[in-house]
Amino acid sequence: MAHQYPGTFITLEGPEGAGKTTQVRLLAAKLDAAAVPYVLTRDPGGTPLGKQIRHILLKPGNPVAPMAELLLYQADRAQNISEVILPGLKAGKLVICDRYIDSSVAYQGYGRDIDLDLIKQLNEMSTQGLKPELTLLFDLESEKGLGRLHPGGHDRMEKEAIEFHHKVRQGYLTIAKQEPDRFRLIDATKALHSVQDDMVRLIGELMAGKKAAFI
Ligand code: TMP
Repeated sequence: MAHQYPGTFITLEGPEGAGKTTQVRLLAAKLDAAAVPYVLTRDPGGTPLGKQIRHILLKPGNPVAPMAELLLYQADRAQNISEVILPGLKAGKLVICDRYIDSSVAYQGYGRDIDLDLIKQLNEMSTQGLKPELTLLFDLESEKGLGRLHPGGHDRMEKEAIEFHHKVRQGYLTIAKQEPDRFRLIDATKALHSVQDDMVRLIGELMAGKKAAFI
């Protein structure tokens, strides 16, 4: 058990264009149909404050220094933890967060070369030490992911050079290897419904182990 609350905490990670957001919408429809109590949130932008921070972070052309970027993502996360994630877990819900601590390690650590230990300490602070029980890494080649978006990307992060995105993807694969109990890889190049089947199966295994309600 990664935490002491009655709910279940799962995060979704991956490089640009991996389809996490589409997949989570499909899953939400199934959870609704099965009346499973859940909360869906995202980093950045899961709260009203977070939406403002997200706008600052993703606005194309906004000058944001790497350290300011890291701290803004952390500020968003601290708000999401206190306003959405912890209340959801305390209420016994399935909490699914689209991106979380591993995005900071992959993007600001491996992507921007900020010290990994510093990022891990900040992650601890902003989350009050809360780790997910399961992290699904939607993996695909950076070129493929970016190719699914508008040419050249549309937000400030997507517009980064391809070398940056390569480092992010390799970073994710490295982190996943370091914590094999928490991470499960999903091949995001597969067809939409196969990716959805993989996601449902992996979450279902965790929920069955906890004897928690699922679809
Ligand atoms: P998305 O929510 O649409 O995936 O966009 C969020 C962007 O922010 C994406 O490019 C990944 C990036 N990001 C970071 O660089 N660090 C972080 O800690 C988080 C949560 C996201």
